[in-house]
Amino acid sequence: RGRLLSFKRLPQSLDDTDSYAYESDGGLLIESGMIVATGPYADIKAQAPEGVVEIDHRPHLILPGFIDMHLHFPQMQVIASYAANLLEWLNTYTFPEECRFVESAHAERIAKHFYDEMIRHGTTTAVAYCSVHKTSADAYFAEAMRRNMRMVGGKVMMDRHAPQGLLDTPEMGYDETRQVISDWHGKGRNHVAITPRFAITSTPAQMEATATLAREFPDLHIQTHLSENHDEITFTCELYPEAIDYTDIYARYGLLGPKSLFGHAIHLSEREADAMSEAGAVAVHCPTSNLFLGSGLFPLKALARREKPVRIGVATDIGGGSSYSMLRTMDEAYKIQQLLGERLNPLESYYYMTRGNAESLSLVDKIGTLDAGTEADLIVLNAAATPAMALKMEVTKSLTEELFLLQTMGDDRAVVETYVAGKPMKSILQ
Ligand code: GUN
Ligand code: FE
Repeated sequence: RGRLLSFKRLPQSLDDTDSYAYESDGGLLIESGMIVATGPYADIKAQAPEGVVEIDHRPHLILPGFIDMHLHFPQMQVIASYAANLLEWLNTYTFPEECRFVESAHAERIAKHFYDEMIRHGTTTAVAYCSVHKTSADAYFAEAMRRNMRMVGGKVMMDRHAPQGLLDTPEMGYDETRQVISDWHGKGRNHVAITPRFAITSTPAQMEATATLAREFPDLHIQTHLSENHDEITFTCELYPEAIDYTDIYARYGLLGPKSLFGHAIHLSEREADAMSEAGAVAVHCPTSNLFLGSGLFPLKALARREKPVRIGVATDIGGGSSYSMLRTMDEAYKIQQLLGERLNPLESYYYMTRGNAESLSLVDKIGTLDAGTEADLIVLNAAATPAMALKMEVTKSLTEELFLLQTMGDDRAVVETYVAGKPMKSILQ
């Protein structure tokens, strides 16, 4: 029982009340990890079976769990590294740190911390890069199964321009990805994604191998990085001179499609945005990372309102990103749009964190809403979680103001509880 909020589509404005469903005294009936009924509390109470356990979260908000569309599981100890730009950050901090994930014991220890942080911050589904080592994917998916979370992830494929301890080969990358798919895809709630890191770290031969995987497993997500930083773009285009631009490199290897998730995609040309749109590929905005690494200002609103709109996801990009919180993430997304002379209204933000990301993952039949028949991954949010938030809450008059307060001031402290498949997980964290 609580105040229920979920989205039906992308809100067009702050008073687009048809775009969401809000129940000021709502109820969710949960059975075997699934939402079986949702609506006004009195109606749900009337149809609930005898002896059902009732949890009262009033006056807090209940939303679908947050979805983080792009982050790096082996970068929990890279976060907060002092670098001038992307390529320096990768070479100085990130690649050396990822080398440690060859050790299962290390990968398993970090995986526990990783899922603890997801739950603490109300993220119930995440889409992660593991390291190049199969051990890291094994640790990532095993821990997801232990917690029964719906997670997407992939063993990174990379065979050049990185330290020796972080390289596979076209054959190894192919074979180990196939092994990860057969070991983990569809086990529990796991999804395996084909994961070439980016064009700089894959030879054309390895890109051919990813093309083969994409053909063999057309239902799998594909994730990589695209057009994040100007030096990166220049170097990438030098490595693939036959391609007309960065996006075209991925297109040439069959990696541009509706299951493709491109991290960053900040500096796209009109041609690239058209190609992304026509393919139904997703541009994943990582605001804290883009600011932290000085990568640029992602034109979210401009891409979304094009005649050929680009599908959009939102994400933390830990450890280039600087917060695990999707609330902090969307606060920074808001500020980026401000600098671009655009407004990102709070309804849009909460749509993107929940249903929008679920749609971008083609998983909206399972997660991202409070609809009956979907999985009971939920969060409970308190907009008065800190003294300063409580003080502001005193003068907060509407739902949209409350959401904006939560986004502007909130973090993990605002997440009262995180439910995964109907089970409270945050309150039982050690
Ligand atoms: N491009 C290639 N690898 C990475 C990474 O780990 N983080 C970010 N932000 N960009 C990348
Ligand atoms: Fe990334």
